[in-house]
Amino acid sequence: MKSKVCLVTGCAGFIGSHLTQRLIDLGHFVVGVDNLFTGYVHNMKGFADHPNFKFHEVSILDEGLLESLKADYPELDVVYHLAAIVSVPYSVDHPELTMNTNFEATKKMHKSAKDLGITQFVFAGSAAEYGNEERLPVREEYATDLVEHVSPYGTAKYKSSSLIGNSGYGCSLRFFNIFGPRQDPTSQYSGVISRFVDFGLAGKKMVIFGNGEQSRDFLYVSDVVDSYLIATGLDPQGRGPLCGIYNVGTGIGISILQLAKSVAKLTAAPTEINFQPTRAGDIKHSRADVSKMSKSGFSPQVSFEEGLTKTIEWAKSS
Ligand SMILES: NC(=O)c1ccc[n+]([C@@H]2O[C@H](COP(=O)([O-])OP(=O)(O)OC[C@H]3O[C@@H](n4cnc5c(N)ncnc54)[C@H](O)[C@@H]3O)[C@@H](O)[C@H]2O)c1
Repeated sequence: MKSKVCLVTGCAGFIGSHLTQRLIDLGHFVVGVDNLFTGYVHNMKGFADHPNFKFHEVSILDEGLLESLKADYPELDVVYHLAAIVSVPYSVDHPELTMNTNFEATKKMHKSAKDLGITQFVFAGSAAEYGNEERLPVREEYATDLVEHVSPYGTAKYKSSSLIGNSGYGCSLRFFNIFGPRQDPTSQYSGVISRFVDFGLAGKKMVIFGNGEQSRDFLYVSDVVDSYLIATGLDPQGRGPLCGIYNVGTGIGISILQLAKSVAKLTAAPTEINFQPTRAGDIKHSRADVSKMSKSGFSPQVSFEEGLTKTIEWAKSS
């Protein structure tokens, strides 16, 4: 496969750093953009000095960003747009910044990419676009203008995905709960696994809000990277590219109680659980209908247990 010049926004973040590493490993050149809002320089340790990587510490809110990057890197032909405000509670407290970062900047970047003739554009969508959807598994078409989003985060992600989905240019991958090494345990969003691992390694009891029956669709980060490669036609197995909106998950619901028990067992932490009252706004179950994405040939390669073990190994060594 011919090597490409790719832009990864959010390259210092959890998912962006894994995506960047894989692209470089496959022989592509990565232009990385991040303002280190929730990302870390140490996440880029594996590739920061690689000749096929160039980091720009800038904000996606900067006017004309993509135009100036394209001028500097004329062969730039693939955009992975991951940079975002990722904390749901933060988005509730900062709705304007969230809308500007997660929607307005995406809208501009998507238009610029199209105008500049960039072949592939992928956006990081989210299960939050479905609000408190109760029909399971959740299908792509359940996200409509009628959905009441729980947060500005969900609204902005929905508006971005819809714009891309309706444009016929590029694609939005709606991720469910992602986990793996480098996920920030202090993150208030989707960080349940990293928080449990933190508890477990400290020998503390797991804290569960509610009875633990609530369930989530957890996907390991290397499978997320696979889905990105498929979406942009850079998959070594020749799958993709994709256009439109796609759920990305396993299609399997894992209860929080099951998760807590598995982490406690793997970290030799106490198996007794500290149950706390249910938090307002927490959705009961979330599970993706993955039939659309499966047609591309995508299927998760890392089992939940294997992913947990790798995450714990990483947490122990970091
Ligand atoms: N982790 C999950 O479970 C999950 C689920 C669904 C969707 N997503 C989406 O995937 C993407 C990556 O999330 P993540 O989990 O890796 O989070 P993360 O916080 O580790 O990564 C986001 C990155 O974006 C950067 N960023 C934020 N604002 C920026 C700005 N104005 N300019 C430049 N960079 C900026 C941050 O510094 C950070 O490095 C996000 O768009 C997120 O909404 C994540």
